[in-house]
Amino acid sequence: MERTIIKDIFSHPELIGREIEVKGWTRTRRGNKYVQFIALNDGSTIRNIQVVLDMTRFTEEQLKPVTTGASLRVRGKLVESMGKGQTCEIQAEDIEIYGTADPDAYPLQKKGHTLEYLREKAHLRPRTNTFGAVLRVRSTLAFAIHKFFNERGFIYLHTPLITASDCEGAGAMFQVTTLDMNNLPKGEDGRVDYSGDFFGKPTALTVSGQLEGELGATALGAIYTFGPTFRAENSNTPRHLSEFWMIEPEVSFLDINGNMDLAEDFVKYCIGYALENSREDIEWLAEMYDKDLVSRLEFVLNNDFVRLTYTEGVKILEESGHKFDFPIYWGADLQSEHERYLVEQHFKKPVILTGYPKEIKAFYMKQNEDGRTVRAMDVLFPKIGEIIGGSEREENLDKLQQRIDELGIPMKDMWWYLDTRRFGTVPHSGFGLGFERLVLFVTGMTNIRDVIPFPRTPGNAEF
Ligand code: 4AD
Ligand code: MG
Repeated sequence: MERTIIKDIFSHPELIGREIEVKGWTRTRRGNKYVQFIALNDGSTIRNIQVVLDMTRFTEEQLKPVTTGASLRVRGKLVESMGKGQTCEIQAEDIEIYGTADPDAYPLQKKGHTLEYLREKAHLRPRTNTFGAVLRVRSTLAFAIHKFFNERGFIYLHTPLITASDCEGAGAMFQVTTLDMNNLPKGEDGRVDYSGDFFGKPTALTVSGQLEGELGATALGAIYTFGPTFRAENSNTPRHLSEFWMIEPEVSFLDINGNMDLAEDFVKYCIGYALENSREDIEWLAEMYDKDLVSRLEFVLNNDFVRLTYTEGVKILEESGHKFDFPIYWGADLQSEHERYLVEQHFKKPVILTGYPKEIKAFYMKQNEDGRTVRAMDVLFPKIGEIIGGSEREENLDKLQQRIDELGIPMKDMWWYLDTRRFGTVPHSGFGLGFERLVLFVTGMTNIRDVIPFPRTPGNAEF
């Protein structure tokens, strides 16, 4: 007999009255000596299927190993249910136990566990309702992203994870080497000699695929990347991971205004797609963690993002009279508290800030005529702060070279990037969306460690 996926049971009423077979993990077993009930989940949906056991056909001895976590195959007739909260149930005829889960040892018991506890059991937490829901929503969002760009003719470009250049210039990179750490070859100057290293020079895990993305965009027109990125910043916050996934579109012949339109359309599309295709999981998460979740998602979908300059934003913050932990003045890098004040207190809408001081942004951003600001854009979201960072790129070779010199970026390593400006340069723009920050927003979770299956953060690379 072919196995039926539990999700399909609920969307195929014609299965009622038929013999079916399901496989999954026991959530609970309860009942008495006449009748017992197993709630079975196979990960395909937040809903469990109820298995009803007529105890004239089964013995207590036989069901004893069916405890929370035990894996089963169940065969029986699907019937309409009398019980409230479910449409149908299985009248079990035959049960096979694949694997037991000793109640004294299995870490996930029926009682709810805290998210902190579950982080320590990240190898098993996908079996909980919360993480099942979050991981399904995450998967839906990943699909929406590919769908959005595919429908618009963007080429999916795979950029390297091992790189010799630091795109963001923040220096927070994880080194990649095969040198023997206990016996490093040294040059005459006493520094490590990388000529014998695997790539013959120092390399690291990428912080962004943008630079190679620009190579793609200036050939293919419009590209996007979607892959893991790595940052060795020692940021222990609910919004930072050391390994996170980023989506980076890069588009030729697009200016900063078109870039903002693209970013706004893109996030709205993803949120709309998730609301439509992961509704049940989102509603369940809302019920459990965040009653305003669905209305907040709908609000973002139905409202234009506010667009203003950094200078205007700073003025609002300075005049707000609000006491911030970090001082605010023109030139200051905005902290999450500043971003959230603008979004949550002042405008009560997502905000796109542009025209940042060049000193606090990366070398590649297009310089404005004022000589002080660049065509950067950050998209700021309620509860999250910065969800997207991007810009129009400096396409003028001389200006770009001058900025690289000012910042002391080793020029010889950048020759290939500068070739895009040397040969057939074009105006172009792009941005990066932090995938986990989007998943945070859509699921209503509050800690980024809870929206990626196996989080990497400072001091933590378990599982
Ligand atoms: O603002 P960032 O650093 O921009 C870039 O990397 C550009 N190269 C993007 C581009 O223009 N193509 O990072 C982009 C986004 C941020 O807005 C944030 O959402 C996310 O990536 N992000 C992180 N997410 C989780 N953990 C971290 N440590 C993150 N750092 C950035
Ligand atoms: Mg940024």
